[in-house]
Amino acid sequence: MSQSTRILSGIQPSGTIHIGNYFGMIKKMIESQDDGELFAFIASYHALTSVKDKEFLQKNTFEAAVNFLSLGMDPEKSTFWVQSDVPEVLELYWILSNHTPMGLLERGHSYKDKAARGIATNHGLFSYPVLMAADILLYDSNIVPVGKDQIQHVEMTRDIANTFNNNYGEILTMPELKVDENVQSVPGTDGAKMSKSYGNTIDMFGPKKTIKKQVMKIITDSKELEDVKEYENCNVYKLCELFMNNDELIELQQRYATPGEGYGHFKLTLLDRINDHFAPYAQKREYYLNNPDEVKDILAHGAKKARKVAQSKIKIIRDAVGL
Ligand code: ADP
Ligand code: TRP
Repeated sequence: MSQSTRILSGIQPSGTIHIGNYFGMIKKMIESQDDGELFAFIASYHALTSVKDKEFLQKNTFEAAVNFLSLGMDPEKSTFWVQSDVPEVLELYWILSNHTPMGLLERGHSYKDKAARGIATNHGLFSYPVLMAADILLYDSNIVPVGKDQIQHVEMTRDIANTFNNNYGEILTMPELKVDENVQSVPGTDGAKMSKSYGNTIDMFGPKKTIKKQVMKIITDSKELEDVKEYENCNVYKLCELFMNNDELIELQQRYATPGEGYGHFKLTLLDRINDHFAPYAQKREYYLNNPDEVKDILAHGAKKARKVAQSKIKIIRDAVGL
């Protein structure tokens, strides 16, 4: 029986998601459910490298699940689970560690960057790419769609798989990277890349008042109502591009070119578009937030499906290495 293309992706439950995460990653992950068999998980073990607070981890894991389900993750079509509900991945992590040269990890950007910024490092952070390799290889993933920051990790996975296969035979499936060249970097309210760590985010869900405050904070130039304005480098316009079609953008460009309106008006247009865009999902989100047992059941069902695949693979791997 030939298996359809298996696409695997994970997200860390590390904080409130924003529209940058949505357009950069979540939307594509949801859409990939039509391109192959999607395996998607909440990377709870990985989050332990930075989250040391039990309640915070549990709350973020639950909210990540709620957000993904609300935005269209289909738990019947796809396999959607919490990483730590399939502990077999840690056994593979250990086995792969013995095929991972120290030098490979020492060259890891994400570890090096954190160390350079003076963040206290630990072994979890250092060996994080081996756990990511285990995630990918345990499920015989064919394609791993990633953003630029994760390319090196998938390349390391390929290196590790190669070393393992050279020693034991063709046991592990070689994953292919899929980097989406069209993934724009969504600007934040200050014009820099939108990021939790820069305090420049715009939320997708939550109190309307909060989202309005965030939108009103967007930095623009200081042209007055009666001035003609340029849309080309305007942060408000750039964010509108995410929500509008061509005709709507042309109409907006005309408003920029016509004296009489100010940036406050354009920001209110953007705010309406954000609210309209996420409103259908917000209702579903409310539902899941109020029905946590249902969310738990969905994740348990996903873990059961994932674990079945994991257990049969780890058996082959244990046998191959002599355990
Ligand atoms: P943050 O920078 O807010 O901490 P993460 O690093 O947790 O976000 O990113 C989670 C996912 O969202 C990654 O796949 C990343 O590429 C994507 N992402 C984050 N910020 C943006 C952005 N401003 N534009 C596009 N994609 C983004
Ligand atoms: N490291 C990824 C991130 O921080 C999350 C992740 C963990 C992942 N395991 C993975 C992504 C396996 C793709 C495949 O965004």
